[in-house]
Amino acid sequence: MNRQIPALLLALLLAGCSGQEMADQPSLKTDEASDLWGSASAARPLPEGVVARGDGARRALLATPPPVTAELMGRGRRLFGEVCAPCHGLAGDGDGIVVQRGFSPPPSYHTDRLRAAEAAHFVDVIGNGYGAMYAYGDRVAPRDRWAIAAYIRALQLARHASAGDAPDAASEAR
Ligand code: HEC
Repeated sequence: MNRQIPALLLALLLAGCSGQEMADQPSLKTDEASDLWGSASAARPLPEGVVARGDGARRALLATPPPVTAELMGRGRRLFGEVCAPCHGLAGDGDGIVVQRGFSPPPSYHTDRLRAAEAAHFVDVIGNGYGAMYAYGDRVAPRDRWAIAAYIRALQLARHASAGDAPDAASEAR
C-alpha cells in the first residue's frame, strides 16, 4: 500500500484548518460605528439625487389610479382582510382583533371626514403610515394600495346605501 496517502490526507486536513482564518477576517456591518471614511459610520452616504431601482415605475403606478374592475376590487377585499382588518375590523369600524387586545383604536372609515377623503389619501396612508399606524409601503405594492383604497370606498358606500342602490337580482337574471 502507498505510505504517502496518510501524509497527503494530513496535509489536506491542515490546509482545511488554516482556511478558517479567511472566514474570520475583520469586516464592518452597514451603519456600524467606524471612522474608516471620516464620517463615524461604516456606510457611505448615497450620492445626491440617487434613485432606487424601480422607483420611477413605482411612483408612476402610485400617481395613476388603475381602473376599478371586479378583479381589482376582489384583490382589494382579500388584502384588506389580511393586512388592515386585524386593526380596522372587517367592516372598517376600527374594532379589529388587535384593537380588542389593546392597540390604539383607528378611526372608523364611516366618519364624515374619511368618507369625504380622496382615495389617494388612503393610498398615501398605506404607503407612509399615519400617526400611530405603521407604514405598509414595503409590504403592499402600489397597485394593491389602490385596490385596497377602492375596497374601503366600497365599504363606505355599502354602509350608507339604500335598497334602491342594489342591483335588482331578478331583473339581471332575465
Ligand atoms: C396595527 C394596526 C393597524 C393596521 C394593521 C392598519 N392600520 Fe390603519 N390605522 C391604525 C391606527 C391606530 C390609526 C389611527 C392613527 C392615528 O390617528 O394616530 C389608523 C388610521 C388609518 C386611516 C385614517 C387616516 C386618517 O386620515 O385619519 C386609514 C385610512 C387607514 N388607517 C388605513 C389602513 C389600511 C388601508 C390598512 C391596511 C393596508 C391599515 N390602515 C392597517 C392602525 C392600523
